[in-house]
Amino acid sequence: MNNIYAIIFDLDGVICSTDRYHYLAWKALADRLGIPFDEQVNSQLRGVSRMESLEIILGNHSGEYSEQEKLALAEKKNEIYRSYLSAMTPGDLSKEVRMTLHTLRQRGYLLAIGSSSKNTRQILNQLGLGDFFDAVADGTQITKSKPDPEVFLLASSMLGVSPENAIVIEDAESGVQAAKAGRFRSIGIRSDGNDPMSDITIKKLSNLTEIF
Ligand code: BG6
Ligand code: MG
Repeated sequence: MNNIYAIIFDLDGVICSTDRYHYLAWKALADRLGIPFDEQVNSQLRGVSRMESLEIILGNHSGEYSEQEKLALAEKKNEIYRSYLSAMTPGDLSKEVRMTLHTLRQRGYLLAIGSSSKNTRQILNQLGLGDFFDAVADGTQITKSKPDPEVFLLASSMLGVSPENAIVIEDAESGVQAAKAGRFRSIGIRSDGNDPMSDITIKKLSNLTEIF
């Protein structure tokens, strides 16, 4: 692809299947609160910050909780989520993802992470990727999460590459919107191969080695 020097990856749902753990943790919390929660609501949470996700889940019930109670609920969800994370090891990095990352590195691309998650560092360390990426921009360093482009702009500036020379790999609608807002090109990963918003859609990460 023309003039692309850097590839910025979303983390949850792209590099690893932690999107499943997010779902299970939110589901456990929603069940305790008696609020309906399913995969369809969950898909709206991809790429969105923890507190914004909680607001989406609470929906009309939001006004029934004080700010302090909401912080406690988000903390509870994070505790449940982290209990899943704690069991993760380098063996949880799929062969496909490992091979794709190493191939792209060998081909000379700069590789970065752009994630809304405040747990990014822990996840990368547990997967054995703590020192792998050329830049890591995450939820601890930004004030606005996706669909705002802040995290991707931070990643590209850490790499010293301008947005037109970088491409974003995303599984979330909010992430593709963030890429567009930052004037990045984007590749959407969708198992059905159908993502009307991204510039290119792929079915699985290893398809990147056919593009770059
Ligand atoms: C994103 C996930 O990567 O990180 C969202 O797609 C999640 O589902 C967000 O809410 C924040 O994650 P964390 O780990 O800071 O709660
Ligand atoms: Mg994602």
